[in-house]
Amino acid sequence: MDSRFLLISKIRALKERKNAIILAHYYQEPEIQDIADFVGDSLDLSRKSAETKANIIVFAGVHFMAETAKILSPEKKVLLPDLQAGCSLAESCPYEDFKNFRDQFPDHVVVAYVNTSAQIKALTDICCTSTNAVQVINSIPEKQKIIFAPDRNLGNYLNSLTGRNMVLWDGACHVHEEFSLEKILDIKKVHPKAKLIAHPECQKPILIAANFIGSTSALLNYTQRDDSVEFIVATESGILHQMKKRSPDKLFIPAPPIDSTCGCNDCKFMKVHSLEKIYTSLNEEVHEINLPKDIMEKARIPIQRMLEIN
Ligand code: 13P
Ligand code: SF4
Repeated sequence: MDSRFLLISKIRALKERKNAIILAHYYQEPEIQDIADFVGDSLDLSRKSAETKANIIVFAGVHFMAETAKILSPEKKVLLPDLQAGCSLAESCPYEDFKNFRDQFPDHVVVAYVNTSAQIKALTDICCTSTNAVQVINSIPEKQKIIFAPDRNLGNYLNSLTGRNMVLWDGACHVHEEFSLEKILDIKKVHPKAKLIAHPECQKPILIAANFIGSTSALLNYTQRDDSVEFIVATESGILHQMKKRSPDKLFIPAPPIDSTCGCNDCKFMKVHSLEKIYTSLNEEVHEINLPKDIMEKARIPIQRMLEIN
């Protein structure tokens, strides 16, 4: 039997025997997305982890996503196949620095993107994702001042959409900061009808040039419903797998980074997982995500507020 097929069969058998599910973000490798019980954006994945009846959740995503799953389902075993699956955006907002920053604005409420550590969530009033950020911000009375963390590009974009003047933490994601508008415009010369679609973590010049801006799931849905047949995709390249699956006759071109040799439109953190690591994780029940009880209790409040809004 083909070794890949054998590995996939072993993972499926283990899942069944242990009542486990695999949740995967859209940025995972295609073969991981294909074996997952559910593939989604960060909001869908947090909803799924809160709802599942499984005993074990194997999280094919990054650390903050697995933490969110644990916070929402503390009685379940949450496993991260590789502990190196961090997030440069979450890391751009360290606890002590953010706490000092927040203390300078005592009359502001804190809205934090889910791409933050559980410790930062414990300092947060309400969380959001790129799917529901506008709804979350609009749920806060207009006169109430807001701190938004950690992504400055998303924060600026949300300020322009909502007319707020949120104070922004100066964080960014290493993937979305790297796209080259110049190279995108070169692609446009060859594919003049291609639409540029971008995640709001991209820098302002890319967002100004974009035909559509949205979260990973919003971008995916847009490519399916829009009449265009060519798209330049300015987000992590893993999402192209679902785009091609849903619209096999359309052309999807990954937006190139400034340095074409760096492969930086791949999230190096998302891409640390593999089928082999998922098998080991499930078989040996490693690496389990655990958090101090008090942090979990504090961090759960802003996540639940966000889920209630939806
Ligand atoms: P989504 O919330 O759109 O899935 O994005 C998560 C993320 O990490 C973007 O870089
Ligand atoms: Fe974090 Fe950026 Fe990777 Fe998303 S793409 S998980 S924001 S490092």
